[in-house]
Amino acid sequence: MVTMINAETNAEANAETNAEANAEKNAETNIETNAEKENVLDVVDLKMRFPVRRGLLRRMVAEVKAIDGVSFSIKPGETLGLVGESGCGKTTLGRCIIRLYKPTEGLIMFEGQAISQRGKSELGRFRRRMSMVFQDPYGSLNPRMSSGDIVREPLEIHKLVDNRKEYKERVAELFTMVGLSPDMMDRYPHEFSGGQRQRLSVARALAGDPSLLICDEPISALDVSMQAQVLNLFGELQARKKNLSYLFISHDLLAVQYISQRVAVMYLGRIVELASSADLYSGASHPYSKALLSAQPRPDPFIEETRDRIILEGDVPTPLNPPAGCSFHPRCAYSTARCEKETPELRDVASGHFVACHRV
Ligand SMILES: Nc1ncnc2c1ncn2[C@@H]1O[C@H](COP(=O)(O)OP(=O)(O)OP(=O)(O)O)[C@@H](O)[C@H]1O
Ligand code: SF4
Ligand SMILES: [Mg+2]
Repeated sequence: MVTMINAETNAEANAETNAEANAEKNAETNIETNAEKENVLDVVDLKMRFPVRRGLLRRMVAEVKAIDGVSFSIKPGETLGLVGESGCGKTTLGRCIIRLYKPTEGLIMFEGQAISQRGKSELGRFRRRMSMVFQDPYGSLNPRMSSGDIVREPLEIHKLVDNRKEYKERVAELFTMVGLSPDMMDRYPHEFSGGQRQRLSVARALAGDPSLLICDEPISALDVSMQAQVLNLFGELQARKKNLSYLFISHDLLAVQYISQRVAVMYLGRIVELASSADLYSGASHPYSKALLSAQPRPDPFIEETRDRIILEGDVPTPLNPPAGCSFHPRCAYSTARCEKETPELRDVASGHFVACHRV
């Protein structure tokens, strides 16, 4: 009897696992056929949850919903800016895309191939074509390696050159590309200025000839003059390498406006508005985007003087227990009973201008 029940339970569990695996496979195949082949990146309904564990047995007591159903694409040569308050999930999204994290659910299609659930050994080729530039260049560079070796390492890992002479030439080329003198190859990271260190990180990130760079707050640790230089460097690199795309994450709304063709606004693990940079900055529709952009100082002193700031009440709610319905409703001046119950979908409201709000 017990054996029969076990057999039944196992059969049921197997059927469930098979159904799940098939559903995932079908979804991936559908997306693979539906995805616009020309996109360098397609992210579909991505979710990332972090378990919160407590006690001796490390039981899971809750989940942080860091990413809660995010979809967007990036075309070759395009820069997509990503903005939003601290803790809304920008870094987690970047880390999922580059597969430092395995997403809980959803799909990541890179250069037409699903990479969301691939194991480490299957990610090698993709890791070369996708790199990340971090906020703190000092923390992301090995202090015990010379700058030349730091840039050389990815060339070695991905076996991109054959001999010492070629390594040296390629490293020198990458140094020059980011505006560093190849004479600096023997120096260590601590002998560089902040701006030079960030250039070094960019040189390393470019070593594998990537098609997508995920830049997570790449200028926020730099002083203002260095910020402009590094921002220009990103622009120059893209002008030189036409198909290089960026996901540019930053708190600096002016920098994002300057560098991005399109911008996505995130709030509590979801994209609430996505539009061309021109459309968003001249006419944001979502109440949260409006408030965020109203906080941006304007370079023109007259406009700055007349700028109307929308002050948001309260803090961003915790992603451990996000509000039901529209997660922005506790802070939104236009919230209705519907907003408290129904989560608004991200809809195309004006040819390529997407907004997630019941009021728009
Ligand atoms: N490894 C982790 N384990 C548990 N929770 C995490 C982990 N990483 C991030 N989180 C949580 O996920 C949420 C999103 O964090 P994330 O770092 O992605 O935000 P962010 O938008 O990059 O913020 P910031 O602008 O401050 O860099 C936060 O609530 C954070 O506490
Ligand atoms: S859906 Fe409702 S609560 Fe959410 S942003 Fe729109 S009006 Fe505000
Ligand atoms: Mg971050």
